[in-house]
Amino acid sequence: FAARQASQSVFGAVQRRTFSATASNATKVAVLGAAGGIGQPLSLLLKLNPRVTELALYDIKGAPGVAADISHINTKSTVKGYEPSGAGIKECLTGAEIVLIPAGVPRKPGMTRDDLFNTNASIVRDLAKAAADACPEANILVIANPVNSTVPITAEVFKSKGVYNPKRLFGVTTLDVVRASRFISQLKSTDPATENITVVGGHSGATIVPLLSQAGYTLEGAERDEYIKRVQFGGDEVVQAKGGAGSATLSMAMAGARFAESLLKAAQGQSGVVEPTYVDSPLYKDQGVTYFASQVELGPNGVEKIHPVGDMSEFEQGLLDVCLKDLKSNIEKGEKWVKENM
Ligand code: NAD
Ligand code: LMR
Repeated sequence: FAARQASQSVFGAVQRRTFSATASNATKVAVLGAAGGIGQPLSLLLKLNPRVTELALYDIKGAPGVAADISHINTKSTVKGYEPSGAGIKECLTGAEIVLIPAGVPRKPGMTRDDLFNTNASIVRDLAKAAADACPEANILVIANPVNSTVPITAEVFKSKGVYNPKRLFGVTTLDVVRASRFISQLKSTDPATENITVVGGHSGATIVPLLSQAGYTLEGAERDEYIKRVQFGGDEVVQAKGGAGSATLSMAMAGARFAESLLKAAQGQSGVVEPTYVDSPLYKDQGVTYFASQVELGPNGVEKIHPVGDMSEFEQGLLDVCLKDLKSNIEKGEKWVKENM
């Protein structure tokens, strides 16, 4: 079972070339916020991934219980839960190759992701400090919202400690691509697993820009507007449906596990692994937008190559212009706050 899983893409990420990576490399993966709505199913999916050999689960409460539960699953990886007391976050992070951060509060109906800033900025800052100290060379995958701002916050923390490596910091925007691909497949009656819609920009409302034209699709009028709205506000759809009990957790766990799997494949020697992700990017730096999500080729050192956004329709260019304006202010907000609150 393990060998078969190791050589195929469980989550449908883009693979231009295949390479038979072994599942034997020792790889420690840490999840911070592991007892939460995302953290639990994400940890479960990572336990099922044969590329992960050690799973370290941290939360302010409940991680040892989640770890005990997951540790009974009959895959080879070891699992240990950590709380602030005892061995704590330092031991959890030491030796980690990948650190996923879904710690933080989720939205309730009526809130924007930016409304989470006041609570989640300090949570992410503190976890970033711990990671910068314990595993400065790890790949840091930020899931906590608002991603457009929490990624710059993490970068500034790493810079303040002199260990920032832009190739190792990722805002996880995979869920936007998963949604964009699923929603177009519903309109066009295609297999969603074979759809791979490029989504660029950031991870909130108007900063999420799907580039349907690059997949050869043209939608017009109300159908187009509804599709764009659904991709940009797919998160709100789930927040509304959950009626105050949180936001997307299960689809996010799948998206986070897919991104981690892609990084592991690339780290273990597979070439041509491309994922959309929000990174320190040169693409729009001249406009003051220092972080941007586009298709990124992953490699053993993290970011291998940042692809330009490519051709787009006039309509999509209009969406991108709005995106860049919002993104710039989200980035500046994160950077300003963390400099004043380091
Ligand atoms: P949740 O409340 O169910 O879980 C959050 C967990 O974080 C809890 O277990 C909590 O104890 C823990 N936590 C809080 N402070 C912590 C700290 N300092 N250290 C360690 N753990 C801490 O929330 P959720 O539904 O899992 O969502 C988590 C975050 O992910 C939210 O900010 C949400 O907006 C975001 N999110 C992002 C995406 C994305 O696409 N990037 C998708 C969905 C949700
Ligand atoms: C999502 O896209 O589902 C997440 O960012 C959670 C949210 O607040 O919408």
